[in-house]
Amino acid sequence: MNNEYSSDPLGQVRASLDTDVVALATASADGAPSVRMVLLKEADERGFLFFTSYEGRKGRELAENPRAAILVHMPGRQIRVEGRVTKIPESESDDYWATRPRGSQIAASVSNQSEPVESREELERVYAEFDTAHPAEIPRPAHWGGYRLVPDVYEFWEHRDNRLHDRIRYRRDGEGWTVERLQP
Ligand SMILES: Cc1cc2nc3c(=O)[nH]c(=O)nc-3n(C[C@H](O)[C@H](O)[C@H](O)COP(=O)(O)O)c2cc1C
Repeated sequence: MNNEYSSDPLGQVRASLDTDVVALATASADGAPSVRMVLLKEADERGFLFFTSYEGRKGRELAENPRAAILVHMPGRQIRVEGRVTKIPESESDDYWATRPRGSQIAASVSNQSEPVESREELERVYAEFDTAHPAEIPRPAHWGGYRLVPDVYEFWEHRDNRLHDRIRYRRDGEGWTVERLQP
């Protein structure tokens, strides 16, 4: 381990992250990539947590290919994270579900994420119908919950003069990390 670098990439992420909006890339079994923004709810020793439908495009891709990458952009900086993704325990998804506004709960309940819909009106009709049919608490639908990405690679990119940028890559190595500087 090179002493020039921190031995704690997660700590570095937590110290520098000033946004919860991240790009999440997944790929189908045959390697066709897709990317979209998601809200990062937590980044801790257990992994990088986000919530979504388990049955939309990203959910289907993660079911057949549980590898993903997260990309964060901040002024003059970029953080890349790559690893394996697993569903979180249902009880944890339930706990987070309970904190969500009713409107978000209804939308998540009625949305077949990533499927076509006839019109905006149809979407709103289904929402209103569900709202009326469920005046009390709304249970978490089985198709919605959290995933954690457990990193095996981090890369911290920082702008430097003359485009001679810093790129420091961490690769999981047993209990620790192999750290290398990459060429810009
Ligand atoms: C700023 C922002 C935050 C978003 N956060 C989430 C999120 O946390 N979960 C989610 O499922 N979709 C989120 N979306 C919508 C996704 O980008 C995407 O449209 C949706 O998840 C369907 O993606 P898929 O078809 O690849 O599964 C967000 C979009 C934006 C622009």
